[in-house]
Parts: sequence; structure tokens; C-alpha cells
Amino acid sequence: MDQSKNSFTRRQLLGAMAAMGVTTAGACLIGGCSSSRTAESSQPASSSDVSQDAAASSQTDSSSSSDGAGASTTAQAAGEAIVAVFSWSGNTLSVASRVAENLKTDLFRIEPASPYTTDYDEMLQIAQDEQAAGTLPALAGNVQNWDGYSTVYLGFPTWWGHIPQIVASFLAEHSCAGKVVYPFNTHGGSGFASCLSDLAAACPDADIREGLSLLGDEARESNEQIDAWTAAGA
Ligand SMILES: Cc1cc2nc3c(=O)[nH]c(=O)nc-3n(C[C@H](O)[C@H](O)[C@H](O)COP(=O)(O)O)c2cc1C
Repeated sequence: MDQSKNSFTRRQLLGAMAAMGVTTAGACLIGGCSSSRTAESSQPASSSDVSQDAAASSQTDSSSSSDGAGASTTAQAAGEAIVAVFSWSGNTLSVASRVAENLKTDLFRIEPASPYTTDYDEMLQIAQDEQAAGTLPALAGNVQNWDGYSTVYLGFPTWWGHIPQIVASFLAEHSCAGKVVYPFNTHGGSGFASCLSDLAAACPDADIREGLSLLGDEARESNEQIDAWTAAGA
């Protein structure tokens, strides 16, 4: 691995976060990123950051509620909740799995039609380029029966202080108007940063409730917090 290149790109990220007024992010971000250096999707489950349970559960649940190739439809009665999550390296997915388990909801994986790189440094650059250009990457699949869900638990990592553009794509194609939205995220130190205002702008007619933001490194040890949050919203 080219360490000098790696540290340079990390410095870029820290610099951007400092510009956003994030002063405590350094150690946490590096800690957060160090456990997320390679995308979860690139790893065999056994060597991934993602628990095998989380990965398996998301695969199953995602295929049951997406319109991806070969997917079947899970009929949803009006008024039900769904967990929709984008997770590049598995931290937010682990939270999503716990939320879906607690609430006994479907879990939908937000994924790009063209899979993202699994290389951390490349991902930093791609994410930054997508944000700068306002790119809306194509989705791998859409939620079926979206209108049948009244509540959305929406999970994502903080990317360069914002929601990832693939989440913006998801929100562009899945209107949250009239729905209750519970945001949750994982991050390397900057918390939600501008993510909640991104969400408010993308979902002007949604009822956005109190979110849950966890350090990526601590996501898998935060069940108490996750359980309390889901219990409060349920
Ligand atoms: C492209 C990219 C940009 C990131 N930008 C930030 C950031 O602005 N602030 C922050 O605290 N962490 C940032 N991180 C760290 C992630 O938010 C953190 O590791 C998160 O837990 C990853 O979630 P995931 O495993 O679900 O993908 C970034 C990571 C990547 C890959």
C-alpha cells in the first residue's frame, strides 16, 4: 500500500473537516477510517468489518424488498416501517441490522448500479468528485411498494461532511413526502455534520425526527444506544 498517498488523502479529509469547524475529528476520524479502510462489499464475510449476521441479514432483506434482478416482493401493509441504508464499509449496516431486528422491519440496501471501488483512497476522491459535481449515481434497485411505508429509518455514513451522493439518488427516487424519517449515521468524528440539512433539503415534506449518530468504530458496541433510540421512536 502506498502509505504516503494514503496519509495525504486522509490529511485532505481532515483539512476539509477542520474547515467545517470539526476540531475533534482527527483522532476519531483516523480511528474510524482505520476500521473501514476497505469496503465491506469487497470482503468475504469472514474477513470483513461487517458481522456475518449483518451481511447475511441485509442480503436477504434487501432482495426481498428491492426490484433488483430476481428479487421477490414483500407485500407491505400501509403504515409499516422500513430501514433503508447505504454503507460502504459496514459500520452503518451493523446499526441498520440492529434497528431492523428491533423493529422487525425489512432492510433495504441502497447500492449503486456500478459498485463503488473498494479502495479507501479512491473512494475519498470519488465521493468528493460526486459531491462537487452533484452527481446522482444510478441505483442498483428501488424499494417496491414504497408508498406502503409510512416510516423510514434512513442510514448512511457521513462523507465529506454530507450525505453520500448515492443517498441523494435514493431520496430523489423515493419521495419521503408525508413520511416520518428517522435518520441514523456513523462517522469518523464529525457526527451528522451537514447531513441533516442535506436531508431536510432533499425531503422538504417529510417529518424528520431525532436522529442517531454513532462513531463508526463504536457502532458494533452501541446496541444499548440503538435499542433506546428505536424504542423511543417506535
Ligand atoms: C469517502 C469518505 C468520506 C468520509 N468523510 C467523513 C467525514 O466527512 N467526516 C467523518 O467524520 N467521517 C468521514 N468518513 C468516515 C466514515 O463516515 C466512517 O468511517 C463511517 O463509519 C463509515 O460508515 P460505513 O462503514 O457504513 O460506510 C468518510 C469515509 C469515507 C470513505
